[in-house]
Amino acid sequence: MQGLLNWIDARFPLTKVWNEHLAEYYAPKNFNFWYFFGSLALLVLVIQIVSGIFLTMHYKPDAEMAYASVEYIMRDVPGGWFIRYMHSTGASAFFIVVYLHMFRGLIYGSYKGPRELVWLIGMAIYLALMAEAFMGYLLPWGNMSYWGAQVIINLFNTIPVIGSDVSTWIRGDYVIADATLNRLFALHVAALPLVLVALVFVHIVALHVVGSNNPDGVEIKKLKDENGIPLDGIPFHPYYTVKDIVGVGVFLLVFFAIIFFGPEMGGYFLEHANFEPANPLKTPEHIAPVWYFTPFYTVLRAVTLSPFMGTLAMFGAIVLLALLPWIDGNPIKSWRYRSKAHTINILLFAACFLVLGYLGVKPVIPMLKELGTRMTEIYFMFFIVLWIHSKPGKANFVMWFLILAAVIVGIDLFRYNPEATDDASQIVWQWIFPIGYLALTLLLPGVVKSFNTEKIVPERVTS
Ligand code: HEM
Repeated sequence: MQGLLNWIDARFPLTKVWNEHLAEYYAPKNFNFWYFFGSLALLVLVIQIVSGIFLTMHYKPDAEMAYASVEYIMRDVPGGWFIRYMHSTGASAFFIVVYLHMFRGLIYGSYKGPRELVWLIGMAIYLALMAEAFMGYLLPWGNMSYWGAQVIINLFNTIPVIGSDVSTWIRGDYVIADATLNRLFALHVAALPLVLVALVFVHIVALHVVGSNNPDGVEIKKLKDENGIPLDGIPFHPYYTVKDIVGVGVFLLVFFAIIFFGPEMGGYFLEHANFEPANPLKTPEHIAPVWYFTPFYTVLRAVTLSPFMGTLAMFGAIVLLALLPWIDGNPIKSWRYRSKAHTINILLFAACFLVLGYLGVKPVIPMLKELGTRMTEIYFMFFIVLWIHSKPGKANFVMWFLILAAVIVGIDLFRYNPEATDDASQIVWQWIFPIGYLALTLLLPGVVKSFNTEKIVPERVTS
């Protein structure tokens, strides 16, 4: 065995790579639950690629045959239903895992220096993942595939001057048709998986240059023993490879339970309108994207100034996430040692994101429409408040509260139309949400000192 290894090592740096990235890669010893999701994202990526390859063996990327070929996979191909449910459940699982992975970055400040590039590559992965999921969703050629793609591709129509040419170019036809299906298939099965795999590779290489952050936000590379090994580090292999297996086990239990007992997940993982073939003459009653896109879909619907502004707001909501390393300049990374106001800000942001997601699957009625606007206001204000919290000693929180509250009131006055009675009454009472948010994150720490007090960051990691 050693002979074979030596033979390979003389031709390829196998042992070197193994040591650098596993056996002698020192990771902080205090990883917790939140650190399972990186390896789980890797696992789901593999599941998607392998199940996708098998699906491609029977799927037909043809507007006349696509829907029937998926039914054929479900009914006639041995084990076909299993492979397909793995892939459809895997798509949702991917986003659950990636959202939790990103949330971890938010609470422990993992996006901050020296990991800005790891975060930016992560955001590129997230964009590629959204594109991959959108394209995959058209392939079964169900009615929601068709109309969902129609809505999303039409977003490009809102670009001034060139918009309609751009969307025609994307579709390859004046309507969503066979040409669209074919190109999205090519991108979904070949181009984007390659991009994703390449991005994940550089994501991990970039992480291994700077080393992992941890729940305390302490840089373990600062304190090393005489051999240059971080005092608070343990070799990734075997410690975390074994620990990650526990995460994988729990994940697979849930994953297969969904596949076997509820693969549609009440219409959230596989939407009911998609059990009908694409029909250009029949619009589904409520067109809504799959749940993982709905927070941004609500932002799009909430900004009604003009369609283009709506599209800009939607993309802006994603771009702001990428800019987090530069918005949050507070030197303390983990929320463990930051002020209570910061923790409240993060928790309210997470709640707001969930509500935005919920609203995106609901039909528009005045109450929910206004709630969408209010949550959109909170979504964007989160980044401003985060920036203000960067300098808790210096910033005048009460002044910022007054400024931002005045902006909200100004927008309300602009929107208020007493003739639209339903909308107007909603505007009046739902004012409480953004102002309440500002009161908790700015006024409270401005008035009660304990909400604006940061803790001393320890030199070494804790438990
Ligand atoms: C296919 C998707 C992804 C895969 C396979 C993946 C994989 C990984 C792995 C294996 C790690 C190391 C283990 C861990 O810290 O959990 C990691 C760390 C990290 N990832 Fe990802 N990732 C993905 C997407 C993302 C996204 C979308 C973001 C954010 C926009 C992101 C940001 C980060 C950051 C900041 C770290 C370092 C965290 C720390 O050290 O505390 N990743 N990723």
